[in-house]
Amino acid sequence: MVRKYVYGEPFETEAVVMEMAAERGQETLNVGQVSLKDGFSFSYEMAGNDIVYGLGEANRGLNKRGYCYISNCTDQPNHTEDKRSLYGAHNFIVVSGERNFGLFFDYPAKITFDIGYTRSELLRVSLEAADLYLYVIEGDSAYDIVKQFRKMIGRSYIPPKFAFGFGQSRWGYKTREDFLKVAEGYQKNDIPIDMIYMDIDYMQDYKDFTVNKENFPDFPGFVQGMRENGIRMVPIIDAGVKVEEGYFVYDEGVEKGYFCKREDGSEFVAAVWPGDTHFPDVLNKDARKWFGGKYRILIEQGIEGFWNDMNEPAIFYSREGMDELLAALRKYAGEDVERIPLEELEKVTGISNSPADYSRFYHCVHGKMIRHDKVHNLYGYNMTRAAGEAFKEIAPDKRLLLFSRSSYVGMHRYGGIWTGDNKSWWSHILLNLKMMPSLNMCGFLYAGADLGGFDADATRDLVLRWMALGVFTPLMRNHSAMGTRDQEAYQFEGVEDFRGIIETRYRLIPYLYSEYMKAALNDELYFKPLAFVYPSDSFAANVEDQVMLGDEAMIAPVYTQNAKGRYVYLPERMMLVKFSKEGQYTEEILEKGHHFVEVALNEVPLFIREGRCIPLVKAARCVEELDSICPEMIGFEGAEYLLYEDDGFTKDYDKEGSYRKLKI
Ligand code: GLC
Repeated sequence: MVRKYVYGEPFETEAVVMEMAAERGQETLNVGQVSLKDGFSFSYEMAGNDIVYGLGEANRGLNKRGYCYISNCTDQPNHTEDKRSLYGAHNFIVVSGERNFGLFFDYPAKITFDIGYTRSELLRVSLEAADLYLYVIEGDSAYDIVKQFRKMIGRSYIPPKFAFGFGQSRWGYKTREDFLKVAEGYQKNDIPIDMIYMDIDYMQDYKDFTVNKENFPDFPGFVQGMRENGIRMVPIIDAGVKVEEGYFVYDEGVEKGYFCKREDGSEFVAAVWPGDTHFPDVLNKDARKWFGGKYRILIEQGIEGFWNDMNEPAIFYSREGMDELLAALRKYAGEDVERIPLEELEKVTGISNSPADYSRFYHCVHGKMIRHDKVHNLYGYNMTRAAGEAFKEIAPDKRLLLFSRSSYVGMHRYGGIWTGDNKSWWSHILLNLKMMPSLNMCGFLYAGADLGGFDADATRDLVLRWMALGVFTPLMRNHSAMGTRDQEAYQFEGVEDFRGIIETRYRLIPYLYSEYMKAALNDELYFKPLAFVYPSDSFAANVEDQVMLGDEAMIAPVYTQNAKGRYVYLPERMMLVKFSKEGQYTEEILEKGHHFVEVALNEVPLFIREGRCIPLVKAARCVEELDSICPEMIGFEGAEYLLYEDDGFTKDYDKEGSYRKLKI
């Protein structure tokens, strides 16, 4: 049962698609207390054992209890435990325990979720302005509530099937030759690959929708050549449009008035990779249509997928911010450095992504100027929506790959996400795992982290262990930052171990794709916490480092360096399958309970539930070459599996005849 309450005058975020009549917001709700003093706050006294799920792309555990999280889309490259805001704003939580209910705060600016941080039993959600829709969802269980929420927000994005292949990325590949070298690195070593990602260096001076001509004399020819070789090139698009007269995107945007403006009507200037940029006003329908239309330029050159970046939007500094900083420092010119107060120096580090800058520019929505900080969390969503809406016109029958760094609920209908700039740290393998079910609850099914870690130097064992988790995440991409140690699969000794892991992914693609499609088409979860499947198992409720995958399996990756394996809790009897190199695997039945499971560095462990089975095919060079006609089945004797299959690129998901469900 869902109730929609309206407080004040909410901004229409279009996160929810289900039509529902709204009731006037009250102070006493069935499930808690609202206060309208100093903005808006919602309070609920949690019972000792209540679990709080949700918040999508947020830090820390699957159970969000015991910390304070702030939805405030932030370019945050240091995902340490103390961080309260990351790139996304997914304001959906589920309280599960004595009472089960879900809350969705549809509000486009900063929100604080104090979940037992100030006082361990108190859940308090506070907003600066009392202008929001609050959805209260009641149901029998956390899982039931999540399913109701997913129905409300509409079908999750469905990528083309090739996007389930493996992709390699690195910030720093520049020329045609660099990309050819990566393709060769994989293909000479017989490692499957479907995508190579193009980071900002493919552009001319970091200008969106341009390609550096010197490095790519024949870009369409290059894209097509790669494609014929089984590889799709996936370029990045950044939010900031370079300020440069004569650059068509800049000229058109200025002429049409489609960039975000200052209060005085001039275009707001933010420095990002290209230097000075303007932000397309993607909250304005016309500007969104215009910006989205630009993706056509690359699509016409053979591109079939994009990743949208820096769309919190990230600001290195603004003109105003820099002026203020320089004025402050100028005061001390010629002074003894020791006499400069520390607060003044701190201004230097505070110049990027500063709250002051987010209140310096405006959007024009239905003819009304709205200050950016009031709708901050909607920028990445609408940049990706710009592309998604345009794709429907540019290629109406075709699925294109699209994912974003920043997001809000609602964006899940247009694209997936990657979880931003993590580090080559063991703790980030675990963070990756924990985020996945939470993201699914908020609609983001196509998701993944930078495998091997973005920043910092990766080690061979870390990349192997992380990729063994990545085998199961819909987006499986190895990406790293400029200046870090090379981490492509072929850069380390014992390349056969990397090949074995990536081949395991390809062997499982028919199953992973089938489970993804079922989850997307039925508003279900691809990844679930154990407690959603075993609600009466009190131990399962506390498991944070294993997750259920689809309806048949459970994963439990190794995330500790030098570990020979790990402890695993089995809520029921399961079959442990360990995939290793050259298509080999072992099977072992384990009884319900606790086990220490040995997992070698080159093995991928997967647990199959009692009475279930999954299809397994032969690995291939790329997704297109997989043959799923006659899969081998692994799992329990006599079990059946319903395989969903379609062509992987058209959109007739629901049309009889264009997909098949095969009982095996
Ligand atoms: C941002 C992105 C990262 C990318 C870099 C350069 O940090 O998160 O993935 O490599 O910008 O474009």
